[in-house]
Amino acid sequence: MNNAELYECNNDLQKRDTLECLEEYAKKLKWNRTGDRIIDIGCAEGSVTVNLLKEYIPKNFKVLLGCDVSEKMVTFANVHHKDERTSFSVLDIARKVPEEMCYNFDHVFSFYAFHWIKDQETAFCNIFDLLEKGGQCLLTFLGHNPMFDVYRILAKSNKWSCWLEDVEKFISPYHDSQVTKAAIVLIMNILIKKRKCYGSINHTGRWSEYSLISLAS
Ligand SMILES: C[S@@+](CC[C@H](N)C(=O)[O-])C[C@H]1O[C@@H](n2cnc3c(N)ncnc32)[C@H](O)[C@@H]1O
Repeated sequence: MNNAELYECNNDLQKRDTLECLEEYAKKLKWNRTGDRIIDIGCAEGSVTVNLLKEYIPKNFKVLLGCDVSEKMVTFANVHHKDERTSFSVLDIARKVPEEMCYNFDHVFSFYAFHWIKDQETAFCNIFDLLEKGGQCLLTFLGHNPMFDVYRILAKSNKWSCWLEDVEKFISPYHDSQVTKAAIVLIMNILIKKRKCYGSINHTGRWSEYSLISLAS
C-alpha cells in the first residue's frame, strides 16, 4: 500500500472505527501531567494520526511520531502534516526496532495496521520495547472478518485471481483462529515470559477488534 493520495480519499471505514475506538478508550488511558510521548504504528499518509488521534490526546503532548513501513506514505505525511511536535518516520514493526527508540514512548497506538503483520510475536515484543515502564498500547485491527473469505473466493475465480495472487498476505493472522482474544492472550503470555513483564488486556470484538494492553515491568 503505497499510494498516499488514493488512500487519503478512501479510508472512511478506518476513520469511523478509529473514532469509535478513541471515543471509548482515550479517557481510560493514563496520561502524564507533564505531557506524553506518543507513537502511531502503521500511520499511512498521516491523516488519522493528525485529524483523529491528535484530537484525543492531551494538548500538552511532548512528541507525536507516526511510523509506517512505506517510505512513500511517510514522505507524504511529513510534507502535509509535520510540525514542531509531530513528525513521521519509516519503521517496520515486524523487525527489530532501533535501539534509540526503545523505552522512549508512553503510548503506542496502531489503527487498522496490525492485521497486516504476520509475525505478531515480534511486533508485540517491539511494542513492549518501545514503551517506557508502565506505558500502554491501544490497537485496532481486523481479526476474523467475512471480507477475508471473500478475498479467498475471488482469488480462485478466473475473473479476479490476477488481482489477488498473493491473497494470504492480506488476510489477518487471526482470521482462521475464530477467537482473536485467545490468540492474543497466547502471544501476550509469550511476551510476558520473554520480557519478564506483566500485563492486562481489555479486548472488544465487534466489526474490527480493539485491544487496550497495559504492560509493566
Ligand atoms: C490500512 S493502513 C492504516 C493506516 C492508518 N492507521 C489509518 O487508520 O488510516 C495500514 C498501514 O500499515 C502499514 N504497515 C503494514 N505493515 C507494516 C509494518 N510491518 N510496520 C509498519 N507499518 C506497516 C501499511 O504500509 C499501511 O500504511
